[in-house]
Amino acid sequence: MRIGQSADLLVVAPATADILAKAAHGLASDLLTNTLLTARCPVVFAPAMHTEMWEHPATQANVATLRARGAIVIEPAVGRLTGADTGKGRLPDPAAIFEVCRNVLKGVTPDLAGRRVVVSAGGTREAIDPVRFIGNRSSGMQGYALARVAAARGASVTLVAANVSLPDPAGVDVVRVESALQLREAVLASAVDADVVVMAAAVADFRPVAASRSKIKKTGDEPEAIHLTKNPDILAELGERRRAGVTSPTVIAGFAAETDDVLANGQAKMARKGCDLLVVNQVGENLAFGTPDNAATVLVAGGEPVEIPRGPKDDLAGVVWDLIAARLV
Ligand code: CTP
Repeated sequence: MRIGQSADLLVVAPATADILAKAAHGLASDLLTNTLLTARCPVVFAPAMHTEMWEHPATQANVATLRARGAIVIEPAVGRLTGADTGKGRLPDPAAIFEVCRNVLKGVTPDLAGRRVVVSAGGTREAIDPVRFIGNRSSGMQGYALARVAAARGASVTLVAANVSLPDPAGVDVVRVESALQLREAVLASAVDADVVVMAAAVADFRPVAASRSKIKKTGDEPEAIHLTKNPDILAELGERRRAGVTSPTVIAGFAAETDDVLANGQAKMARKGCDLLVVNQVGENLAFGTPDNAATVLVAGGEPVEIPRGPKDDLAGVVWDLIAARLV
């Protein structure tokens, strides 16, 4: 009993389906379950089990119960499991577990516990031929910071990453995509049962009508024209789907990169896309792209704009989640 009473943090790693079930139902049949029941400190579970066990409705219900009570259940990693099978259920990387624990000990409140959030990050690539693409300068740093902070605050996070070369944030389910159409498919699929969707990815507005199957050769001195077609606007589509009752995220947030008339353009964009929050960045030389710092104005539906001064992208992510959390209650 003393172990639980005097602990600052309790970490169960690996957390089996069995221990999650026992913890969810408050059993006290051995030293570990006794400790869990007496602990008043934050509790972190790092699950490890076969994919089928993780996905079983019983386990999912137990995880939901634990999260609703404020426990932090890290999303298991995807990869080789103890048997011959591969899939979701692998013990998260020790560094990832450590990162979550560090955040919890820093006093980050798990106010997003039990919430399902989807964050898109990075920049899409639209294939011209097998070796060339139309891309953009987004590094994915801001989207990754949003995912990392949401996970540290207890959310169950799906991060749809377009061409990002950053390490996976701790305890986050990462889905990798390349093009705008792939990003759309991944975001819309995970948005179905999400509480929040944050579109931080830089999505190409246009793509080549058809990517050439073979490398385009230079013939003569005249360049070959690349014909473009419009990509779907995923953020606007999320709003439309919510209105139609297909998806039900409580909060839909977008990002807007602007070089001129930042506020006016942001306001018009927010109205056009029908989102609840729009984080407006000024971009340009040394601003936003690829830098660890960011500054922004957050436009909030039905509220006053919130200025976020220049600072680390994790701090900006924290303010954005504060604004989102306030709309979730
Ligand atoms: N976005 C999207 N689908 C697109 C284009 C953009 O979902 N096809 C989302 C981005 O993820 C971002 C927001 O819309 O959250 C604003 O992106 P931005 O590039 O600033 O806006 P655009 O709609 O492309 O407008 P413009 O290029 O005219 O500024």
